[in-house]
Amino acid sequence: MYEERVVSGMRPTGAMHLGHFHGALKNWVKLQSEYPCLYFVADWHALTTHYETPEVIEESVWDMVIDWLAAGIDPAQATLFIQSRIPEHAELHTLLSMITPLSWLERVPSYKDQQEKLIDRDLSTYGFLGYPLLQAADVLVYRAKYVPVGEDQVPHVEMMREVARRFNHVYGREAGFEEKAKAAAKKLGSRKAKVLMELRNKYQEQGDAEALATARALLEKQGNLSVADRERLFGYLEGGGRLILVEPEALLTESSKLPGVDGQKMSKSYNNTISLREDAESVRKKIRTMPTDPARVKRSDPGDPDKCPVWQFHLVYSDEKTRQWANQGCRSAGIGCLECKQPVIDAVLAEQGPMRERAQKYLDDPTLVRNIVADGCEKARKLGRETMREVREAMGLAYT
Ligand code: TRP
Ligand code: SF4
Repeated sequence: MYEERVVSGMRPTGAMHLGHFHGALKNWVKLQSEYPCLYFVADWHALTTHYETPEVIEESVWDMVIDWLAAGIDPAQATLFIQSRIPEHAELHTLLSMITPLSWLERVPSYKDQQEKLIDRDLSTYGFLGYPLLQAADVLVYRAKYVPVGEDQVPHVEMMREVARRFNHVYGREAGFEEKAKAAAKKLGSRKAKVLMELRNKYQEQGDAEALATARALLEKQGNLSVADRERLFGYLEGGGRLILVEPEALLTESSKLPGVDGQKMSKSYNNTISLREDAESVRKKIRTMPTDPARVKRSDPGDPDKCPVWQFHLVYSDEKTRQWANQGCRSAGIGCLECKQPVIDAVLAEQGPMRERAQKYLDDPTLVRNIVADGCEKARKLGRETMREVREAMGLAYT
């Protein structure tokens, strides 16, 4: 049965910071109790840009998992693993590469953007071009329904959908499909089979999308169908062939945008980050020295919060009352900037306290983290193997 699985990954290219937490991790934590979630360390993806400095990746992998756990990812709910431990990602990537037009990869916006932006690295590699296809394999290998990502990654999810569709189109057309689908329907029992046919007609003849949704829901509930029969029936409903790979959807993270301490995007390369478990003294110092509205030279000069990065922190960290206090105090020169920053400092420290605490247990005993990841890899592999069995068979690679 296809559960509504969620898959997402992060590249281990340095310490996690508050930008990652508010931009992605917080959302991962929320999702883990709503869906079966698979979260992985995208170390191969990190290598596409850091192939000359693999030590950066090596250093970041375990710290990143500790940061996830510190942020509240619960290994009893979510499956945590490392991409390179699951060879099925690589196998699917290779197989998908056979049917993926080069133009699909070349037109992904991040390809040219990044190549132009990261001028200190030579990104005219095969691996970098294939980045989004590897990402497609990451998700399709688990037949996931949702991919929580930021806006910049939406074109990648679009491409995953196209690749899945193309795969189903090319390889879902087995000989005798109609007969096999009808035989699969019979296995539901005559009453359910009849309902299914009626819904299918409604969808195909009248374009009734609700009928399609109802029919799909009906199939989801049938525990006694084989994977192949389920794929056939899903395909049959829509009028095509078998649906072997699932088209995933982006789950947009509503970004509570937290800038860096200098007001630019928070990023290690700008040297403006606050790391997830940064020590309290350093947090205080970084926030106290944050630039503010440049027009507020003297304490008696009124300021404009919209021109101040500290205000962006208030928007993420403060309640309505504190925001009003800061906003009015700033505009009327009623408060000084250091005063204005104090509630932000308090809130960041309050957020980090439990994170530091949760991390401690894993820092004290690294085997805990190794075991969590080993378990996660095993679970992920099992799911990946199932998909690959179907994929190989569909592509004529299941030699006997
Ligand atoms: N490209 C993603 C990023 O840079 C990381 C990633 C790799 C990913 N594989 C993925 C995200 C699969 C979602 C699903 O953020
Ligand atoms: Fe920024 Fe607050 Fe100073 Fe206004 S009072 S400039 S919002 S730090």
